[in-house]
Amino acid sequence: MRPQEGLFHSPGAFSAVAVLRLSRNVALSQLRDVLSTLYAELSATEGLHTVLGLQPTLLPGAPAPSALLPRQGPTARFPSTQSHVLVQVSAEGRELLLWALRRVLAHSKAVLSLEEEVLGGRIGEGRDAFGFRDGLLRPTREQVRRAALVPSGALAGASWLLYLRFQKDLERFGRLKPQAQERVVGRTRDGELVTDAPAEAHIHRARASGAGENQLLIRRGFPFRHGGEEGLAFVSASADPDYYQRSLDALLGVGGQTPDALLRYALAVSGGLYLAPPHDWFHAPASRQEATP
Ligand code: HEM
Repeated sequence: MRPQEGLFHSPGAFSAVAVLRLSRNVALSQLRDVLSTLYAELSATEGLHTVLGLQPTLLPGAPAPSALLPRQGPTARFPSTQSHVLVQVSAEGRELLLWALRRVLAHSKAVLSLEEEVLGGRIGEGRDAFGFRDGLLRPTREQVRRAALVPSGALAGASWLLYLRFQKDLERFGRLKPQAQERVVGRTRDGELVTDAPAEAHIHRARASGAGENQLLIRRGFPFRHGGEEGLAFVSASADPDYYQRSLDALLGVGGQTPDALLRYALAVSGGLYLAPPHDWFHAPASRQEATP
């Protein structure tokens, strides 16, 4: 089992997500050829980290996961804008990131159309749009392997990707006093745990599902600004889609749980579940196969 190498690299200074929809009458073999050529080019590019996922039903042998999105809690909702292909690219330089996005479109235009594109990147030393330190617990390779990779079976080495785009209400959050903001997150702006944070604090809700400390999922999201809107492109990788169900229900407050206070200030506007096949699913592009003696 050889996973996609990009899964082991947290987003760099710049990151982007492209969500693409399959055109009508495209055979699966044609899509696989296009994605294989794209993946080969991007994954061979030094300094660029790529993760490519497909709608799970496009992968023969993939189990049909129970419907994850849309998901509703008493006070908030995670919508579904499920599409067919999701590509996340990350780099330390903007030039390389833009090149990668251009290559995504150039390769895929015969079979896919761009539905959503989000560009963003690190704020300061790694803060979210509310000014809080994020991505504090960088996962080790071993943690990624344990939490994010399907361990065995036909899909060994694959990874389930959850994508949710959140719009943040900076004005509303900014009206809270600094201490109240920290009680919403459950950490200080610089990342220290707030010991007496309420049960509705994001950290408590995220940990209630067992997902704390890179246990059930690996977070690979990034903040973005686009058209006057700021938010978080939440992307994560997990070995099992049921873990997402647990985590999302803990945030939404499903089944009598306390809803996450952060969701009063962040609205999920799009989302989907994708499956990143193992490296070997992408076959060598035809031209290279021919060139091989
Ligand atoms: C707008 C949406 C969100 C914002 C602004 C946000 C922000 C944050 C921040 C600031 C932290 C603390 C810094 C850190 O531990 O790296 C954090 C931790 C975390 N978040 Fe979120 N998050 C959001 C959505 C989500 C979602 C949708 C999930 C799960 C599906 C999630 C799961 C987690 C987990 C597991 C942790 C780490 C808890 C720990 O190990 O202590 N977050 N988030």
